[in-house]
Amino acid sequence: EEGRFTVCSVGAGYVGSLTSIILAAQQPNLRVIVCDVNQNLINSWNDQRYPFYEPDLDKQFDIAVNKNKNIKFTTKITEAIQESDAIFICVNTPPKKESREGLGRESDMTYFDMACQTIASMGDPKKHRILIEKSTVPVGTHKRIHNILSQNLANPDDCYTIVSMPEFLAEGVAIQNLLFPDRVVIGTPTDKNGMEAFEVIKGLYTNFDTNFIHVRTASSELGKLFANAMLAQRISSINSMSQLCETVGASVQDLSKIVGSDKRVGPLFLNASPAFGGSCFEKDIQSLVYILESLGQTQQAMYWSQVLYMNQFQKTRLLNMIVQEFQNPTDTILTIFGFAFKKNTSDTRMSPMAFFVYGLIEKGFHVRIHDPQANERGFQIEMEMQGFSIAEKLNFEFCGSDYSKAVKDSNAIIIGTDWDEYITTNYRNMRDQMNNDKALFFDLRSIIDQQAINFLGFEKVFKLGN
Ligand code: NAD
Ligand code: UDX
Repeated sequence: EEGRFTVCSVGAGYVGSLTSIILAAQQPNLRVIVCDVNQNLINSWNDQRYPFYEPDLDKQFDIAVNKNKNIKFTTKITEAIQESDAIFICVNTPPKKESREGLGRESDMTYFDMACQTIASMGDPKKHRILIEKSTVPVGTHKRIHNILSQNLANPDDCYTIVSMPEFLAEGVAIQNLLFPDRVVIGTPTDKNGMEAFEVIKGLYTNFDTNFIHVRTASSELGKLFANAMLAQRISSINSMSQLCETVGASVQDLSKIVGSDKRVGPLFLNASPAFGGSCFEKDIQSLVYILESLGQTQQAMYWSQVLYMNQFQKTRLLNMIVQEFQNPTDTILTIFGFAFKKNTSDTRMSPMAFFVYGLIEKGFHVRIHDPQANERGFQIEMEMQGFSIAEKLNFEFCGSDYSKAVKDSNAIIIGTDWDEYITTNYRNMRDQMNNDKALFFDLRSIIDQQAINFLGFEKVFKLGN
């Protein structure tokens, strides 16, 4: 084992585990250690029970764990750092929950700082290491790390070169994104140490077909926030057209086609939705807006705030539209199709549907939730984040992947997640099981063939943006 280049990820969540598994699978000569403070999480990786659903993970996991045998999962963080030549920090950086300033906006760097402190305590001038920020962090975090290192070490630069290497994977397509990254962004200092670190990291990617963007550290850090803000902005832009399409008889999908076929715009990521969700977009824009505001750049902050404002507006508009279709909420059963924040993942963090479920229960509706992969625990956590106390209200049923349970006697299907099976499922069969008198259909993802559904005896078929 001695002499083999070793990397470790601090954090075994989505980013830490998936990037590590892919590195281990693709580079048999590398040693990879994934560590986390969460014992249950480490246990589940070690027991080969995936803590979340991600397509194509099996094969890569199998190559790393059973064929290359070059990856291990552990809670022994200091030992992992001790053994490593490069350390990826992949801990969560959520918005602050408790603070007077920056509440819900500024990144909470508690976990990140803790990881840095552990790393600082392992500093050794005889073994120079590369310290890589992979978590999404506020611009300037490399200076923050340097400060933490300086409090523990006489000569931090002899022990560590600080590098920014943001992660661009999207859940549900993470394995493909990691195997074939559009680009690998590496931000380093411009000195000799920085150049060497760049070459070493490039060496880790020899078996990947990609291009490297080597920039200064601040650009790399800010580039990640900007990338997510730009992507989210596309969604708010298309969502801002959905109601107008509904009003004037245009189709939002046609608009996506028309605009997306302009090479300067590109076709991807122009699907209208009940809102963007997920653990990244909102938090990263909040962070960007907070940074701009802190620096007095108010107009720019307001510009990016609008992306979030539109996202919230879309949810409110669609919720109100559904609510006003029903006179007696307490006698009405509504079925939500999809609670994951997007298709092909079990992740429910910041799912837009949490807002809908909460709002509908609050109005007195009985709500049933169907999802092929999301689990009830994730659902509960997300609902509690909305301020919802599960113990107080019993007016919902989480049905998992059981269609019959979800639609029996229901008064409406509301498609909230763009799972492929919600396009192809047999809605004639569903309609037969629903309420005999009144049943409505709301497609908030604009994925169904409206013509086909129109014949099935629904009182109303709504398709987002026509
Ligand atoms: P996650 O919550 O799934 O995983 C983070 C893990 O870090 C948790 O398991 C937690 O227990 C662990 N952790 C926290 N403090 C620790 C410490 N001091 N030592 C060891 N482990 C510690 O989060 P994630 O989704 O993987 O995101 C991680 C970072 O990557 C965030 O900054 C996020 O913004 C960014 N990111 C996420 C995605 C994504 O799609 N999920 C994509 C790109 C970037
Ligand atoms: C995002 C970024 O895409 C990724 O590059 C970054 O590393 C992490 O954040 P993720 O949140 O996993 O990834 O998924 P993404 O595919 O971006 O979807 C985010 C949300 O936007 C989902 O709720 C999705 O349904 C929604 N979305 C996406 C739309 O509403 N319309 C679209 O056209 C695309």
